[in-house]
Amino acid sequence: MKAKTKIFGIIAFINLVLFLVAYNIRPIKVNYDAKEVQLKFTVPPNFPQPGSQYDQHFVTPAGFKLGRILFYDRALSIDNSISCASCHQSFSAFSDQNKHVSQGFKQCSGTRNTPALFNLAWQKEFMWDGRVKLFQLSSHNAIINPCEIANSMAGAVEKLRANGHYTDLFRNAYGSVDIDSARLLNALTQFMSMLVSANSRYDKYRRYEQGGVFTTDEKNGYILFRQKCSACHKEPLFTDLSYRNTGLDLVSIDRGRDSSTHLATDVGKFRVPSLRNIEVTAPYMHDGRFATLEDVLTHYANGVKRNTHLDEQLRHNGTLGLALSSSDQHKIIAFLKTLTDKEFLTDVRFQIP
Ligand code: HEC
Ligand code: HEC
Repeated sequence: MKAKTKIFGIIAFINLVLFLVAYNIRPIKVNYDAKEVQLKFTVPPNFPQPGSQYDQHFVTPAGFKLGRILFYDRALSIDNSISCASCHQSFSAFSDQNKHVSQGFKQCSGTRNTPALFNLAWQKEFMWDGRVKLFQLSSHNAIINPCEIANSMAGAVEKLRANGHYTDLFRNAYGSVDIDSARLLNALTQFMSMLVSANSRYDKYRRYEQGGVFTTDEKNGYILFRQKCSACHKEPLFTDLSYRNTGLDLVSIDRGRDSSTHLATDVGKFRVPSLRNIEVTAPYMHDGRFATLEDVLTHYANGVKRNTHLDEQLRHNGTLGLALSSSDQHKIIAFLKTLTDKEFLTDVRFQIP
């Protein structure tokens, strides 16, 4: 090879590496030989116990490892184009940053914003409308949803059976080589139930731990938050897990909770989302209509519509919304940013294996 061609080759290679680094492009192939990590589900000291629906001895290292690989593996889709992580990305607390609504198989546009995934062991129902009653079934929903992974359970299982790497992974996790849909859902659920976020600066502040310091604005924001927001966004999960209508529209476009309960009073009600890691999960609301936290606060202060099913909390004494000056809004946002859990967002156990 001529020296010139060699140098050109080296420069091209360096450019490629710089490009990949600059655009944060990660390999999409999973490492089936990833190391197993020792881990155990533990309840953070400032959290309540998860409900009886969650078995705290459910996770094993081999089950978690399998679930982690499955979560990132595009092999679950018919044409290897999409995985759970295509929509649920670790750096945005497993939500889909900057997408209003989800985008699935063959660019299919969904109708709802991809929720963040963490502290799911405390949840009793799943999805914005709570229509899924079992944790395992949220993965089932994602695999067969024509606008998400768009496969069938049988199709996904077939693809895993045909992929030699999974034989050992299933054997290690479940004691035999059988690959079936129950095990597939079980492993994904094991991975997701370990996604516990409880080490934000707020948590350290509450637990009097090192680094748990608030500025004056954050302290005042916390006081305001407790007065105005915590009736619904209840600590420490920052949700009371109820369904509420926040007056986003005069007439709700998405029926929300009603599509599951068929109760007229539930039209336009959505699950109160947690506000943990809210700084990194924009855009906001079930349809991703608000780009920033400022927009959300403006809604609560001036934008609440007199929807027939508007929540009591947002129509005190006949006035719509919450009384919030712009300085109040600013302080509340400062407080909300203390809920970002960097340890969770960068936890190597949850990244692509
Ligand atoms: C195309 C994007 C997309 C893909 C791919 C996807 N999801 Fe989701 N996920 C969503 C959306 C959107 C919702 C909310 C749907 C709703 O409320 O109707 C959701 C909801 C969930 C929930 C419920 C969360 C909650 O707080 O109630 C879980 C759990 C979940 N997904 C796990 C998975 C798993 C596991 C996979 C892979 C097997 C996956 N998702 C693949 C977009 C996606
Ligand atoms: C009446 C109960 C209620 C009160 C009070 C309330 N919220 Fe909410 N909040 C909700 C519900 C329900 C949603 C989801 C609405 C939707 O998507 O349709 C939500 C959504 C949000 C979101 C977007 C979350 C996401 O993941 O998209 C933020 C941010 C938020 N609220 C902050 C606040 C703040 C700050 C306050 C106090 C100033 C507050 N909320 C008061 C019920 C409430």
